[in-house]
Amino acid sequence: MVWNTALLLLTTALSCSAVINLSAGTQNDRGRAIYTEYCLRCHGTKGQGPVSIQQKEIWNKPIDELIRIVAFGARGLMSMSNGTRRGMPAAPYSDAEIAQVSMYVTQLVAKKDVLITEQDVVRVRQQHTKSVRGKFRAAR
Ligand code: HEC
Repeated sequence: MVWNTALLLLTTALSCSAVINLSAGTQNDRGRAIYTEYCLRCHGTKGQGPVSIQQKEIWNKPIDELIRIVAFGARGLMSMSNGTRRGMPAAPYSDAEIAQVSMYVTQLVAKKDVLITEQDVVRVRQQHTKSVRGKFRAAR
């Protein structure tokens, strides 16, 4: 795939920098498709809502925070039309797709081009698992 090849080249060339400027017109079609198919129902075409993510602190935090939320969900609650409240579910996609949709949403809402790879998602998953295990041990 053209996008994957471009990403691979970028990863190789710029592996020391997490935030880069992708050249204008770079497409992330899979990221857009996942956002539209899955995220849009809760966050709207521009992140405006029903659950707005436009003014969130997350856009000023390290990119791992965003990956963690997309991969594992979030605890903050929103009211559903049937009167119940629920948080954000973990996205039911592969690590490569989570990387793509995370890049897409950062571009869409924060207007920032970031490079996120499948390896970044794997790393965040491993850290998360370790920290959950650590908490579980501490609680016993
Ligand atoms: C079923 C509804 C739902 C779907 C689908 C959903 N979210 Fe969310 N999202 C939420 C809720 C509710 C919150 C608020 C959680 C909070 O404030 O902790 C949230 C919060 C967020 C945040 C801000 C988190 C923070 O701590 O500031 C981001 C970014 C985000 N979602 C991105 C996404 C992306 C990207 C997708 C698609 C892969 C997605 N969401 C899919 C409901 C959803």
